[in-house]
Amino acid sequence: MNAAAPPLDRAALLAWLREDDPARLAQLWAGATAVRRAHHDDIVHLRGLIEISNRCVRRCAYCGMWSGNKDLQRYLMKKDEILACAARAVRRGYGSVVLQSGEDPGIPAKWLADAIAAIKAAHPLAVTLGMGERELDDYALWRRSGADRALLRFETSDAALRRRLHPPLRADQPDRLALLPRLRDLGYEIGGGFMVGLPGQSYETLADDLELCAALDLDMIGIGPYLPCPDTPLGRRFLAGDRGVADQVPNSDLMTLKALALARLLCPEANIPATTALAVASPEKHLAALRAGANVIMPNLTPPAYRRLYHIYPDQARAAGSDAHDLVLAELRQLGLRPGAGPGGRPRELPRPPDQPR
Ligand code: 5AD
Repeated sequence: MNAAAPPLDRAALLAWLREDDPARLAQLWAGATAVRRAHHDDIVHLRGLIEISNRCVRRCAYCGMWSGNKDLQRYLMKKDEILACAARAVRRGYGSVVLQSGEDPGIPAKWLADAIAAIKAAHPLAVTLGMGERELDDYALWRRSGADRALLRFETSDAALRRRLHPPLRADQPDRLALLPRLRDLGYEIGGGFMVGLPGQSYETLADDLELCAALDLDMIGIGPYLPCPDTPLGRRFLAGDRGVADQVPNSDLMTLKALALARLLCPEANIPATTALAVASPEKHLAALRAGANVIMPNLTPPAYRRLYHIYPDQARAAGSDAHDLVLAELRQLGLRPGAGPGGRPRELPRPPDQPR
């Protein structure tokens, strides 16, 4: 398998997802690394993650920040706090920041537009938004204010499962998948992705998830394991042993790494992070994601008092976050990788031949 290999067909995808032999899997990691190198060189982009608010009006079955979690204290960072985080990203040499939040139309679009404009006026940073399903007018305003990219994971390609686990607010609400092409039309680079091991996700669904990333021609792809959150009914059922469908995909790190490597093969140009959900459990998993084709790390710059409240999944998983800058640099050195300079958008140039001498 190399960068010039023919696209993976459905049978090959499913075979890789069911592969457990370490020697065979070594070929998958090597193939994904070759493609990553051909399209992205040995460069890993560092993006500063700023969790600007945990307010949310949605009732996603998997997420600890769902609106039904009344025990969670909610926050919205102040503009100057957000700007201080952005300045920290610049001091560390990062080329972009990700402003991430729960979904809350009560967070005024104009307020965020001002924050985006202030970041762009002060720093040469790319700004990525993870704000959920907001009005298209809001996204248009944020784009005019300087935002460059938008993340909106589809979570699962199975529309019925998505509706069940990510219920719409109103019966007539368009599916979130419909928003992604509209965001691209506005000039955003677009990101999507899904969770691995979500109860109800079969192997066929996971293959669909991967193929959907390719069909959407995503610029950024986030893939992480489903981590059961005891503050959700779904998480409690999962922890009590109710693991989903007959052909259920496990929420293991290995399965997540396989999905990540296959996403790299299917979408060579996409920026693919070693996601927090995968990477924080142990530093080796972080390295494993980079070996499986990831080319982005998102160190968390959220002030600790807020970070504790950004409760998507249990805290112990987030506590060991990859935000220790020196540690990240040491990891990259260990793998012969180097941090990227500049905003690090999707590269669209022709790839270098994979067998070119280095
Ligand atoms: N485990 C893992 N990932 C989760 N997310 C939400 N809840 C969980 C969970 N329990 C992911 C979703 C969301 C992203 C911000 O975090 O994919 O889009």
